[in-house]
Amino acid sequence: MSTHQTAKTQFLKRPNGDRFAFRRLGATWGIPLLMLIHYRGTMDFWDPLVVNGLAEHRPVILMDYSGVGFSTGRVASTVADSADDVLQFLSLLGEKEVDLLGFSIGGYIAPMVALNAPEDITVRKLVIAGTGPSGGPDTVINSPSHQDQVNTLAGGRDLTRDDFATLFFPHDLRGGAALNSWFDRIYERNVSTSGEQRSNWLSFNFTDGGKGVEAQTNLASSWLLVNETRGRNGSYDRLPGLKTPVLITNGNNDFMIPTPNSFTLQQRLPNAQLILYPDSGHGHLYQYANLFARHVLDFLQSY
Ligand SMILES: *[C@@H]1O[C@H](CO)[C@@H](O)[C@H](O)[C@H]1NC(C)=O
Ligand SMILES: *[C@@H]1O[C@H](CO)[C@@H](O)[C@H](O)[C@H]1NC(C)=O
Ligand SMILES: *[C@@H]1O[C@H](CO)[C@@H](O)[C@H](O)[C@H]1NC(C)=O
Ligand SMILES: *[C@@H]1O[C@H](CO)[C@@H](O)[C@H](O)[C@H]1NC(C)=O
Repeated sequence: MSTHQTAKTQFLKRPNGDRFAFRRLGATWGIPLLMLIHYRGTMDFWDPLVVNGLAEHRPVILMDYSGVGFSTGRVASTVADSADDVLQFLSLLGEKEVDLLGFSIGGYIAPMVALNAPEDITVRKLVIAGTGPSGGPDTVINSPSHQDQVNTLAGGRDLTRDDFATLFFPHDLRGGAALNSWFDRIYERNVSTSGEQRSNWLSFNFTDGGKGVEAQTNLASSWLLVNETRGRNGSYDRLPGLKTPVLITNGNNDFMIPTPNSFTLQQRLPNAQLILYPDSGHGHLYQYANLFARHVLDFLQSY
Protein backbone atom coordinates (compact mmCIF):
# COMPACT_ATOMS: atom_id res chain seq x y z
CA MET A 1 0.00 0.00 0.00
CA SER A 2 1.40 3.41 -0.91
CA THR A 3 1.84 5.99 1.81
CA HIS A 4 2.10 9.75 1.96
CA GLN A 5 5.88 9.34 1.80
CA THR A 6 5.88 7.09 -1.29
CA ALA A 7 2.78 7.87 -3.41
CA LYS A 8 3.52 9.11 -6.93
CA THR A 9 2.13 12.37 -8.25
CA GLN A 10 -0.36 12.02 -11.10
CA PHE A 11 -1.80 14.64 -13.40
CA LEU A 12 -5.13 15.46 -15.01
CA LYS A 13 -5.32 17.74 -18.01
CA ARG A 14 -7.91 20.51 -17.79
CA PRO A 15 -9.94 21.64 -20.81
CA ASN A 16 -7.94 24.92 -20.91
CA GLY A 17 -4.62 23.05 -21.10
CA ASP A 18 -3.62 23.50 -17.44
CA ARG A 19 -3.12 20.46 -15.23
CA PHE A 20 -4.18 19.31 -11.81
CA ALA A 21 -1.59 17.42 -9.76
CA PHE A 22 -2.88 14.83 -7.30
CA ARG A 23 -2.00 11.65 -5.45
CA ARG A 24 -4.15 8.69 -4.55
CA LEU A 25 -3.02 6.43 -1.74
CA GLY A 26 -4.08 3.98 0.88
CA ALA A 27 -6.99 1.55 0.86
CA THR A 28 -8.38 0.65 -2.55
CA TRP A 29 -11.97 0.13 -1.41
CA GLY A 30 -14.53 2.59 -0.07
CA ILE A 31 -15.52 6.17 -0.75
CA PRO A 32 -12.42 8.31 -1.24
CA LEU A 33 -11.56 11.14 1.12
CA LEU A 34 -10.30 14.24 -0.71
CA MET A 35 -8.15 16.50 1.48
CA LEU A 36 -7.96 20.28 0.91
CA ILE A 37 -5.04 22.06 2.53
CA HIS A 38 -4.40 25.45 4.13
CA TYR A 39 -3.18 28.84 2.82
CA ARG A 40 -0.01 28.44 0.69
CA GLY A 41 0.11 24.70 1.36
CA THR A 42 0.77 22.02 -1.24
CA MET A 43 0.17 18.25 -1.05
CA ASP A 44 3.68 17.88 0.35
CA PHE A 45 2.84 19.79 3.52
CA TRP A 46 0.22 17.40 4.86
CA ASP A 47 1.21 15.54 8.02
CA PRO A 48 2.06 11.93 7.11
CA LEU A 49 0.75 10.79 10.49
CA VAL A 50 -2.72 12.14 9.72
CA VAL A 51 -2.74 11.12 6.05
CA ASN A 52 -1.46 7.57 6.63
CA GLY A 53 -3.74 7.08 9.65
CA LEU A 54 -6.74 7.87 7.45
CA ALA A 55 -5.41 6.05 4.38
CA GLU A 56 -5.08 2.78 6.28
CA HIS A 57 -8.87 2.54 6.26
CA ARG A 58 -9.95 4.40 3.15
CA PRO A 59 -8.67 5.74 -0.15
CA VAL A 60 -7.20 9.22 0.29
CA ILE A 61 -6.78 11.74 -2.51
CA LEU A 62 -4.52 14.76 -2.12
CA MET A 63 -4.55 17.54 -4.68
CA ASP A 64 -2.78 20.79 -5.39
CA TYR A 65 -5.14 23.73 -5.93
CA SER A 66 -5.02 25.42 -9.31
CA GLY A 67 -1.67 27.24 -9.68
CA VAL A 68 -0.29 25.78 -6.43
CA GLY A 69 2.48 23.17 -6.01
CA PHE A 70 2.57 20.89 -9.06
CA SER A 71 -0.74 22.18 -10.49
CA THR A 72 -0.54 24.86 -13.16
CA GLY A 73 -3.10 27.59 -13.82
CA ARG A 74 -4.50 30.60 -12.08
CA VAL A 75 -4.57 30.69 -8.27
CA ALA A 76 -8.18 31.20 -7.18
CA SER A 77 -8.90 34.51 -5.46
CA THR A 78 -12.37 33.62 -4.21
CA VAL A 79 -13.65 30.59 -2.34
CA ALA A 80 -16.40 30.05 -4.94
CA ASP A 81 -13.82 29.90 -7.77
CA SER A 82 -11.66 27.49 -5.81
CA ALA A 83 -14.70 25.26 -5.14
CA ASP A 84 -15.41 25.30 -8.89
CA ASP A 85 -11.81 24.19 -9.51
CA VAL A 86 -12.23 21.30 -7.05
CA LEU A 87 -15.51 20.31 -8.71
CA GLN A 88 -13.80 20.31 -12.09
CA PHE A 89 -11.03 18.16 -10.64
CA LEU A 90 -13.58 15.62 -9.32
CA SER A 91 -15.39 15.57 -12.61
CA LEU A 92 -12.15 14.98 -14.57
CA LEU A 93 -11.22 12.26 -12.11
CA GLY A 94 -14.63 10.63 -12.62
CA GLU A 95 -15.44 10.56 -8.89
CA LYS A 96 -19.20 10.79 -8.34
CA GLU A 97 -19.17 10.48 -4.56
CA VAL A 98 -16.50 11.65 -2.10
CA ASP A 99 -15.95 12.67 1.47
CA LEU A 100 -14.07 15.95 1.94
CA LEU A 101 -11.67 17.08 4.64
CA GLY A 102 -10.76 20.78 4.53
CA PHE A 103 -8.30 22.49 6.83
CA SER A 104 -8.21 26.31 7.24
CA ILE A 105 -9.00 27.85 3.82
CA GLY A 106 -9.57 24.23 2.74
CA GLY A 107 -12.38 24.33 5.30
CA TYR A 108 -13.82 27.40 3.58
CA ILE A 109 -13.68 25.61 0.23
CA ALA A 110 -14.98 22.15 1.25
CA PRO A 111 -18.52 23.20 2.28
CA MET A 112 -18.71 25.37 -0.85
CA VAL A 113 -17.89 22.29 -2.93
CA ALA A 114 -20.83 20.53 -1.25
CA LEU A 115 -23.12 23.57 -1.62
CA ASN A 116 -22.24 24.32 -5.25
CA ALA A 117 -21.89 20.73 -6.53
CA PRO A 118 -23.80 19.82 -9.68
CA GLU A 119 -26.37 17.00 -9.47
CA ASP A 120 -23.94 14.28 -10.55
CA ILE A 121 -21.38 14.87 -7.76
CA THR A 122 -22.23 13.98 -4.16
CA VAL A 123 -20.29 15.06 -1.10
CA ARG A 124 -21.25 12.33 1.38
CA LYS A 125 -19.58 13.69 4.53
CA LEU A 126 -17.53 16.73 5.43
CA VAL A 127 -14.74 17.27 7.94
CA ILE A 128 -13.76 20.89 8.49
CA ALA A 129 -10.84 21.75 10.72
CA GLY A 130 -9.72 25.16 12.01
CA THR A 131 -12.18 27.20 10.04
CA GLY A 132 -15.41 29.21 9.93
CA PRO A 133 -18.37 30.37 7.85
CA SER A 134 -18.34 33.25 5.38
CA GLY A 135 -19.09 36.70 6.77
CA GLY A 136 -22.33 36.97 8.73
CA PRO A 137 -23.80 38.31 11.96
CA ASP A 138 -22.05 35.70 14.14
CA THR A 139 -18.77 35.40 12.23
CA VAL A 140 -15.94 36.53 14.50
CA ILE A 141 -13.25 38.53 12.73
CA ASN A 142 -9.74 39.22 14.05
CA SER A 143 -9.00 42.80 15.08
CA PRO A 144 -7.02 44.68 12.38
CA SER A 145 -3.80 44.55 14.44
CA HIS A 146 -4.18 40.83 15.12
CA GLN A 147 -4.92 40.18 11.43
CA ASP A 148 -1.81 42.17 10.50
CA GLN A 149 0.24 39.82 12.66
CA VAL A 150 -1.35 36.80 10.96
CA ASN A 151 -0.70 38.23 7.50
CA THR A 152 2.90 39.17 8.29
CA LEU A 153 3.71 35.69 9.61
CA ALA A 154 1.78 33.71 6.99
CA GLY A 155 2.40 35.92 3.97
CA GLY A 156 6.21 36.30 4.03
CA ARG A 157 8.75 35.00 1.49
CA ASP A 158 9.09 31.73 3.38
CA LEU A 159 7.07 29.89 6.01
CA THR A 160 9.39 28.74 8.75
CA ARG A 161 9.14 26.60 11.84
CA ASP A 162 9.14 29.82 13.88
CA ASP A 163 6.18 31.23 11.98
CA PHE A 164 4.14 28.10 12.74
CA ALA A 165 5.02 28.33 16.44
CA THR A 166 2.60 31.26 16.55
CA LEU A 167 0.25 30.41 13.68
CA PHE A 168 -0.54 26.79 14.57
CA PHE A 169 0.47 25.96 18.14
CA PRO A 170 0.18 27.26 21.70
CA HIS A 171 3.22 29.00 23.20
CA ASP A 172 3.95 26.38 25.82
CA LEU A 173 6.02 23.22 26.22
CA ARG A 174 3.42 20.94 24.67
CA GLY A 175 2.92 23.33 21.78
CA GLY A 176 6.66 23.53 21.16
CA ALA A 177 7.01 19.75 21.17
CA ALA A 178 4.03 19.37 18.83
CA LEU A 179 5.47 21.96 16.46
CA ASN A 180 8.83 20.23 16.26
CA SER A 181 7.53 16.72 15.69
CA TRP A 182 5.03 17.92 13.07
CA PHE A 183 7.56 20.05 11.19
CA ASP A 184 10.00 17.11 11.08
CA ARG A 185 7.26 14.71 9.93
CA ILE A 186 6.38 16.88 6.94
CA TYR A 187 9.84 16.29 5.48
CA GLU A 188 9.53 12.50 5.76
CA ARG A 189 8.38 12.71 2.17
CA ASN A 190 11.42 13.57 0.06
CA VAL A 191 13.25 12.48 -3.07
CA SER A 192 14.62 9.35 -1.43
CA THR A 193 11.19 8.07 -0.31
CA SER A 194 9.11 9.14 -3.30
CA GLY A 195 11.59 9.60 -6.15
CA GLU A 196 10.19 13.13 -6.52
CA GLN A 197 11.45 16.55 -5.51
CA ARG A 198 9.23 18.28 -2.95
CA SER A 199 7.11 21.23 -3.98
CA ASN A 200 7.42 24.44 -1.99
CA TRP A 201 4.98 26.88 -0.39
CA LEU A 202 2.89 28.90 -2.80
CA SER A 203 4.92 32.01 -3.73
CA PHE A 204 7.99 30.72 -1.91
CA ASN A 205 10.65 33.45 -1.99
CA PHE A 206 8.19 35.46 -4.13
CA THR A 207 9.61 34.00 -7.34
CA ASP A 208 6.13 34.61 -8.79
CA GLY A 209 6.27 38.25 -7.69
CA GLY A 210 3.96 37.33 -4.81
CA LYS A 211 0.94 36.86 -7.10
CA GLY A 212 -0.07 33.52 -5.58
CA VAL A 213 -0.07 34.84 -2.02
CA GLU A 214 -2.01 37.88 -3.16
CA ALA A 215 -4.74 35.73 -4.73
CA GLN A 216 -5.11 33.46 -1.69
CA THR A 217 -5.07 36.45 0.66
CA ASN A 218 -7.93 37.91 -1.33
CA LEU A 219 -9.71 34.54 -1.15
CA ALA A 220 -9.44 34.55 2.64
CA SER A 221 -10.29 38.21 3.22
CA SER A 222 -13.19 38.45 0.74
CA TRP A 223 -14.71 35.36 2.42
CA LEU A 224 -15.37 37.50 5.50
CA LEU A 225 -17.16 40.29 3.62
CA VAL A 226 -20.94 39.95 3.65
CA ASN A 227 -21.26 41.96 0.43
CA GLU A 228 -18.85 39.64 -1.43
CA THR A 229 -20.34 36.35 -0.28
CA ARG A 230 -23.97 36.53 -1.31
CA GLY A 231 -25.72 33.62 -3.01
CA ARG A 232 -23.38 30.97 -4.39
CA ASN A 233 -20.33 33.01 -3.29
CA GLY A 234 -20.80 32.32 0.42
CA SER A 235 -21.81 29.71 2.97
CA TYR A 236 -23.27 31.63 5.92
CA ASP A 237 -26.84 31.97 4.66
CA ARG A 238 -26.90 28.50 3.11
CA LEU A 239 -25.48 26.38 5.95
CA PRO A 240 -28.93 25.64 7.45
CA GLY A 241 -29.86 23.90 4.19
CA LEU A 242 -26.76 21.70 4.00
CA LYS A 243 -27.94 18.19 4.96
CA THR A 244 -24.48 16.57 4.69
CA PRO A 245 -23.19 15.19 8.03
CA VAL A 246 -20.31 17.41 9.18
CA LEU A 247 -17.52 16.98 11.72
CA ILE A 248 -16.03 20.31 12.83
CA THR A 249 -12.77 20.40 14.76
CA ASN A 250 -10.53 23.09 16.20
CA GLY A 251 -8.13 23.92 18.98
CA ASN A 252 -9.52 25.78 21.97
CA ASN A 253 -7.65 28.93 20.91
CA ASP A 254 -7.10 29.35 17.18
CA PHE A 255 -4.78 32.28 16.40
CA MET A 256 -5.70 32.43 12.71
CA ILE A 257 -9.46 31.84 12.47
CA PRO A 258 -10.99 32.49 15.90
CA THR A 259 -12.35 29.33 17.55
CA PRO A 260 -15.87 30.75 18.15
CA ASN A 261 -16.38 30.42 14.38
CA SER A 262 -16.25 26.63 14.73
CA PHE A 263 -19.14 26.86 17.20
CA THR A 264 -21.06 29.14 14.82
CA LEU A 265 -20.61 26.58 12.05
CA GLN A 266 -21.92 23.84 14.31
CA GLN A 267 -24.95 25.89 15.32
CA ARG A 268 -25.86 26.88 11.78
CA LEU A 269 -25.54 23.38 10.30
CA PRO A 270 -28.46 20.98 10.81
CA ASN A 271 -26.27 17.86 11.15
CA ALA A 272 -22.90 18.76 12.62
CA GLN A 273 -20.81 17.77 15.61
CA LEU A 274 -17.98 19.80 17.09
CA ILE A 275 -14.77 18.68 18.76
CA LEU A 276 -12.50 21.25 20.45
CA TYR A 277 -9.10 19.95 21.56
CA PRO A 278 -7.49 21.35 24.72
CA ASP A 279 -4.34 23.51 24.82
CA SER A 280 -4.18 23.82 21.05
CA GLY A 281 -4.90 26.08 18.11
CA HIS A 282 -5.16 26.09 14.32
CA GLY A 283 -2.74 23.12 14.19
CA HIS A 284 -4.81 20.92 16.55
CA LEU A 285 -5.05 18.21 13.88
CA TYR A 286 -1.26 17.89 13.85
CA GLN A 287 -0.83 18.29 17.60
CA TYR A 288 -3.31 15.44 18.18
CA ALA A 289 -2.57 13.63 14.91
CA ASN A 290 -3.42 10.08 16.07
CA LEU A 291 -6.50 11.10 18.02
CA PHE A 292 -7.70 13.38 15.22
CA ALA A 293 -7.35 10.57 12.66
CA ARG A 294 -9.34 8.23 14.94
CA HIS A 295 -12.07 10.83 15.41
CA VAL A 296 -12.30 11.40 11.66
CA LEU A 297 -12.40 7.67 10.89
CA ASP A 298 -15.12 7.11 13.50
CA PHE A 299 -17.16 9.90 11.99
CA LEU A 300 -16.69 8.70 8.41
CA GLN A 301 -17.54 5.12 9.32
CA SER A 302 -20.55 5.85 11.55
CA TYR A 303 -24.20 6.05 10.42
C1 LIG B 1 14.03 11.51 3.67
O1 LIG B 1 13.06 11.05 4.60
C2 LIG B 1 13.50 9.96 5.40
C3 LIG B 1 12.34 9.55 6.29
O2 LIG B 1 11.16 9.41 5.60
C4 LIG B 1 14.69 10.38 6.24
O3 LIG B 1 15.14 9.28 6.97
C5 LIG B 1 15.78 10.92 5.33
O4 LIG B 1 16.79 11.45 6.13
C6 LIG B 1 15.23 12.02 4.44
N1 LIG B 1 16.25 12.43 3.48
C7 LIG B 1 16.52 13.71 3.27
C8 LIG B 1 17.53 13.99 2.22
O5 LIG B 1 15.96 14.61 3.89
C1 LIG C 1 15.45 34.11 -2.93
O1 LIG C 1 15.54 35.03 -3.98
C2 LIG C 1 16.71 35.82 -3.96
C3 LIG C 1 16.63 36.80 -5.13
O2 LIG C 1 15.46 37.56 -5.00
C4 LIG C 1 17.93 34.92 -4.10
O3 LIG C 1 19.10 35.71 -3.99
C5 LIG C 1 17.92 33.89 -2.98
O4 LIG C 1 18.97 32.97 -3.17
C6 LIG C 1 16.60 33.13 -2.99
N1 LIG C 1 16.57 32.24 -1.83
C7 LIG C 1 16.19 30.96 -1.89
C8 LIG C 1 16.24 30.20 -0.60
O5 LIG C 1 15.82 30.42 -2.91
C1 LIG D 1 -17.57 45.05 -0.35
O1 LIG D 1 -17.08 45.89 0.66
C2 LIG D 1 -15.69 46.16 0.63
C3 LIG D 1 -15.28 47.01 1.82
O2 LIG D 1 -16.22 47.04 2.80
C4 LIG D 1 -15.33 46.83 -0.66
O3 LIG D 1 -13.94 47.04 -0.72
C5 LIG D 1 -15.78 45.98 -1.85
O4 LIG D 1 -15.55 46.64 -3.05
C6 LIG D 1 -17.26 45.63 -1.72
N1 LIG D 1 -17.62 44.68 -2.78
C7 LIG D 1 -18.72 44.81 -3.52
C8 LIG D 1 -18.97 43.71 -4.52
O5 LIG D 1 -19.50 45.75 -3.40
C1 LIG E 1 -20.49 35.95 -7.17
O1 LIG E 1 -19.24 36.55 -7.47
C2 LIG E 1 -19.04 36.78 -8.86
C3 LIG E 1 -17.65 37.39 -9.03
O2 LIG E 1 -16.68 36.59 -8.40
C4 LIG E 1 -20.11 37.74 -9.39
O3 LIG E 1 -19.96 37.88 -10.78
C5 LIG E 1 -21.50 37.20 -9.08
O4 LIG E 1 -22.47 38.13 -9.44
C6 LIG E 1 -21.61 36.88 -7.59
N1 LIG E 1 -22.89 36.25 -7.32
C7 LIG E 1 -23.73 36.74 -6.40
C8 LIG E 1 -25.01 35.98 -6.20
O5 LIG E 1 -23.47 37.72 -5.73
